Amino acid sequence: MATTSANRYQLEYQHSVQSPVEFWQQQAEKLSWYKTPRNILQQLDGAHYQWFADGVLNTAYLALDHHIEQGRGDQTALIYDSPVTNTKQRFSYNELRDEVARFAGVLKALDVNPGDSVVIYMPMIPQAAIAMLAVARLGAIHSVVFGGFSAHELAMRIDDAQPKVVVSASCGVEISKLIAYKPLLDDAIAKAEHKPERCIIFQRPQLHAQMQAGRDIDWQQAMSKAQSNGCVPVKATDPLYVLYTSGTTGKPKGVVRDNGGHAVALNYSMQAVYDARPGDVFWAASDVGWVVGHSYIVYGPLIAGCTTVLYEGKPVFTPDAGAFWRVCAEYKVNILFAAPTAFRAIRKEDPEAALQRYDLSALRSIFMAGERLDPATYQWVSDKLGKPVIDHWWQTETGWPVAANLAGLTLLPTKPGSSTVPVPGFNIHILNDSGIAVRPNEQGYIALQLPLPPGCLTTIWRNDERFIAGYLDTFPGYYASGDGGYLDDDGYLFVMGRTDDVINVAGHRLSTGEMEQIVANHPAIAECCVIGINEPIKGQQPLALVLIKNGITVDETILEAELVAMVRQEIGALACFKKAIIVKRLPKTRSGKILRKLLRQIADGSEYVVPSTIDDPASLPEIEQLMASRGLVNAL
Ligand code: COA
Ligand code: AMP
Repeated sequence: MATTSANRYQLEYQHSVQSPVEFWQQQAEKLSWYKTPRNILQQLDGAHYQWFADGVLNTAYLALDHHIEQGRGDQTALIYDSPVTNTKQRFSYNELRDEVARFAGVLKALDVNPGDSVVIYMPMIPQAAIAMLAVARLGAIHSVVFGGFSAHELAMRIDDAQPKVVVSASCGVEISKLIAYKPLLDDAIAKAEHKPERCIIFQRPQLHAQMQAGRDIDWQQAMSKAQSNGCVPVKATDPLYVLYTSGTTGKPKGVVRDNGGHAVALNYSMQAVYDARPGDVFWAASDVGWVVGHSYIVYGPLIAGCTTVLYEGKPVFTPDAGAFWRVCAEYKVNILFAAPTAFRAIRKEDPEAALQRYDLSALRSIFMAGERLDPATYQWVSDKLGKPVIDHWWQTETGWPVAANLAGLTLLPTKPGSSTVPVPGFNIHILNDSGIAVRPNEQGYIALQLPLPPGCLTTIWRNDERFIAGYLDTFPGYYASGDGGYLDDDGYLFVMGRTDDVINVAGHRLSTGEMEQIVANHPAIAECCVIGINEPIKGQQPLALVLIKNGITVDETILEAELVAMVRQEIGALACFKKAIIVKRLPKTRSGKILRKLLRQIADGSEYVVPSTIDDPASLPEIEQLMASRGLVNAL
């Protein structure tokens, strides 16, 4: 049968789920391995699978050296555009490889070897990508920590990742302020039990960091003396990186990504999902601290031979809401990837897109992820740009999209609110509480049948029990995504939101459980509950409902300010924790469980059913009234 565009997706999808070994072997053969794998998929036990176990490769080689060997050395690999510092810089594949090889030499001189870990705590500057690729070149493991996290969060990650070396910079540059990174790093190391041997600091002209003699090394000085280091072959199953993400507890989870599966999956996704070809300009407007930055600022575009854009700025105020259009036009961006929140911010500042007066003829499609793409934002971007706007759903854990409209196979008709269909390799099921598949259009838990395709997490760093308990025990034979939603009659996936205590603020994943732990530490608070409520630009914002200890009187405004300061200090400003209300009681079941879902429904202004197990039904109207008086009900 001839493969028409209309059935290409269907054929490829069926192939991937019916013959995963053959399918992924064919994808693996598209890469340049030191030893091409023959053992494609191996089940180790009920929970663990390995992809390409006998393959040997180096991810940084695939991202850089391989393209140079293919004659693409002069092509631009990375464009750095920083409206906040007024800087623009281009690196060809040759130049980027040379920088990476030299920085690998710096790390090697500090005895960084395969299996060692390196924490990278940096703003959006090329040196962040160079550091990641250099670690990969050595066969070591990087763990990038988002620059907006506090010293406390960084300390937790240092203790878990146990890095030999930390790479950081003197500062980050936000819209109208400098964030001094070095004092945060010093504070984090002081707080952490694990002490990295050395810190390499990139001094930025905006702020000079104080160095600690004997421990801190100046990036530029070290680079000026460094010997280049070659690529170290590693096993496909060796970890490439650990990336921490929020779970339901206060302790972040270190998602482990292997080298082989990751490279194969990203290469496949660049073609099938994004329709990206070598030489295309790919811009993921995210941050290297998030999974989007790992997969689609650094590794995906480079493995696919594209030019990647690393943007140090915001969608608005750097300097205006035309920033995205300016970057797209200036670099002839072919594929743009951003979070819906960015477009909501642009629409707020420039509702008619009057600042969109650039030539966007190179732009083929706009991809959105990180949170639900609300139909209004989808419509606005589609109308203003007249290009395909593609919602796709994925998670730090999966590392690449699980559901999408596959631009490289068959673009299916769009249904606003849906991230379209399962990506080849992913077998999506909607299950009820008992793990039974529900009917089309019925909501349930989104679960992925095992084995997961290549590129997904292989475990949680130094905590395999948490991997099994958190993802695999709920529905035996499946990965529990933590998201709820449904498949419609046409097999389109609608992701409706998290079923756990994770919230999504401006595309950033945060744990309300962690915020509760911090709020509960305030001396006046007896009990508390933090929920995510609607926010028009950032999608969600945290709201704390707090009960005051008997005999204590506090002013709500003062208490709120104190709690805001505590959360900023412990997590960071990115939590956007700004609201707390004092309540007389919290709605609970008779067994003492706080009815968080009910509280979210009240805040959303949606209809709710009072469960028969509720202990104190009178608490509900009381809370509804309090929320309404603060303008917190149905804030959208
Ligand atoms: N380093 C230090 N601080 C940071 C930071 C970083 N890398 N990133 C954010 N922050 C701080 C901000 O300065 C701000 O601090 P403030 O409360 O003192 O002003 C706070 O964290 C919240 O920042 P942000 O969420 O960026 O809010 P904003 O109001 O400055 O901007 C948006 C709003 C919508 C423009 C912005 O959130 C945005 O661009 N979001 C898209 C994010 C994204 O791409 N996420 C997806 C990953 S796929
Ligand atoms: P993160 O691990 O930070 O990428 O966040 C993953 C979470 O973001 C998912 O579990 C979803 O809750 C949410 N998410 C990401 N992309 C989408 C999308 N396209 N639609 C709905 N929710 C999304």
